[in-house]
Order: sequence, then C-alpha cells, then structure tokens
Amino acid sequence: MPYQGLIHRYGPYLNLPAHTQIVSLLEGNTPLVPLPGLARELNCELFVKFEGLNPTGSFKDRGMTAAISEALGRRVKTVICASTGNTAASAAAYAARAGLRCIVLIPEGKVATGKLAGAIAYGAEVIQIQGSFDDALTLVVEITQKTPIALVNSINPYRIEGQKTSPFEICDEFGSAPDWLCLPVGNAGNITSYWAGFKQYQKGLPRILGVQAEGAAPLVLGRPVEKPETIATAIRIGKPARGEQALEAAHESNGKIIAVSDAQILDAQRILASEGLWVEPASAAGLAGLIAETGSDRIEAKGRRVVIVCTGHGMKDPSIITESFEIPQVIPADYQTLFDMIGG
Ligand code: F0G
Repeated sequence: MPYQGLIHRYGPYLNLPAHTQIVSLLEGNTPLVPLPGLARELNCELFVKFEGLNPTGSFKDRGMTAAISEALGRRVKTVICASTGNTAASAAAYAARAGLRCIVLIPEGKVATGKLAGAIAYGAEVIQIQGSFDDALTLVVEITQKTPIALVNSINPYRIEGQKTSPFEICDEFGSAPDWLCLPVGNAGNITSYWAGFKQYQKGLPRILGVQAEGAAPLVLGRPVEKPETIATAIRIGKPARGEQALEAAHESNGKIIAVSDAQILDAQRILASEGLWVEPASAAGLAGLIAETGSDRIEAKGRRVVIVCTGHGMKDPSIITESFEIPQVIPADYQTLFDMIGG
C-alpha cells in the first residue's frame, strides 16, 4: 500500500477527535541518516533524524497535518499562527491544501528568506509585527480567544499529537528508543512531543538533551528573556509556551537543557554539511550541544546510540551562507583557462 501520511499510519496512537478530516502532504517517514565520520570521533553510534525532508522543509508538517485536519473537520474557516518562519510555511501549505484562509504573524525582519517565501508562495496573508515572536504569540492567542479563528501554534494540543510520530518512527526503525536524543528547543513544543511520544510507545526511553541558543536561553537561565537574539532565528524565543513541559522532559528523562553559542551552532552546521547534510542553523543546535557535552564526557555518549534531530533544511536560510562566502571566481568560457585553474 503506498504511503498515505502520518495520520493514516499512526492514527490509533494519536488523540484526535472523531470529526478530524485528514489533510496530508505525505509528511513524515523521514530518514535516520548515519554520521559515520563524526560517530568515530565521538565513539558512539550517531544518526540524524532529518526532518528537513518534510514537504515544507521542516518538522512542523507533522503537527500541522493534525492541527489542520482537526480544524477542517470542525468547519473552521481561518487559521492563524505566530511564527519564526517554519510554522508559518507549514500552516500556509496545509491551509492551502484544505482550502482555508491562513494568517501568519512574524517578527519584523527576523524570518529567514526561504520560510517567508514559502508562506507567501502557499498563499498565506503574512503580517510582520514590530516585536518578537513572543509578542506575536500573545496577539494570536488573544485573537483566537475572541473570534472563531483557530490557533495552530503548538499550544494547540493536536500539534503535539502529530509531532509524537517522529519518536514513533525512530522506535519502529531501531526496534527501541535510542540512548540519547538531542534537539533544539525554542517554543518547546517539539521536546514536549518527543517525550510524550517515547513514553506512550513503550519501546524504551532516551535521555533528552535540549539545546537553546545562548542569547535566547530562558530555560537555562530560569527566567524569560525580554530581547532574545541569535543567528538561529527559528529559536529566537524568550518565553517558551511549553517551557515547563520542556524542563519536565529533561528532568524525567535524566537529561538536560543547555545553551550553546552562535559560533558553536555555525560550527555544527558546517560539520553536518561536511557529511552531506545541509540544515538551517537552529537545526544544528542539537549537534552543537552533543559536541559541547561529549567534550568532557558529561553525557557519556561512548558506545551509545545517539539521535540528533535536524529540524529544518538548510535551504530555509540561504543567506546565512551567502552573506559569508566569497563570490565564486568568474573565468572566460575557455578550456585552457579552466584547465590552468583547476589542474589535472
Ligand atoms: N528548529 C526549527 C528549525 C524551528 O523552526 C523551531 C521552531 C525549533 C527548532 C524549535 O521547536 O519551538 O517546538 O521548541 N520554530 C517555530 C516556528 C517557533 O515558528 O517555526 P520548538
């Protein structure tokens, strides 16, 4: 039987209401790509759950198939979200598929080009606000409390249901949960979903390493960050909606939440690219955290199976690369010039 998407595959494990009307782009079913080079260095078994290969290029599609399917089934006409970009593109695509109006609020000037372009291409009404993601989230919560517009941020419980499918896939592929799972933490919906999914599936529990960017690390600091700042704009969030649950996941799993610098994130992005995986900066935070922690053996990765979740594709944020690279050399379209330049 051809693949029919996540709700079809894992429906019995997802707490979705009977009125749910499936809207799918055949999301999920993403590969666990081994990283043999780095695994040798870190002396562990290492895999990337490459969520950038979802239909809109990020893990958000898992939760969005569930949230939009539920909204459509209850005859919602309009959906809205606040977003650092990926949720916006995903909501826009699934709303388009379902024939719903989609409004997205983004922080002015802080959304990577590939995400903004996606949201516009799929036909969302994009509004920039003079404020942060956290301000945008406050606004969309208020408007959905006062109007029939449906909220599709990860405060929506069906988003969490959909995102549980990634831990299900990991357990199905390996036969059990890995020893460690490392992932970036922004608004904290994803870490909450992974922990809920592993607990529900009963194939063992990983220890969870949640990683924030140093300039946007409220869960590490233990207080909200009023003006979060990081090059990893996807996780530029100062007041995570599911912060409590993120801390619980780290604590219950005997894991931790740590912060890494932008330089460590960019290094991890380069390392992943050197093994053939181009991910957006926030997506590299999980690996940056793993490297920071294994350096001193603090997470005892040796001999263990470790999965790092790479949440979004590198093509989401091309300017992080193009702003820093040297413009490729220009030569005449001439064989001898080419040969002289590159050698034999
Ligand atoms: N990685 C990427 C690429 C993201 O886009 C996000 C969140 C995260 C990690 C963090 O996930 O919020 O569940 O802890 N992006 C949201 C958005 C906020 O609007 O696209 P989280």
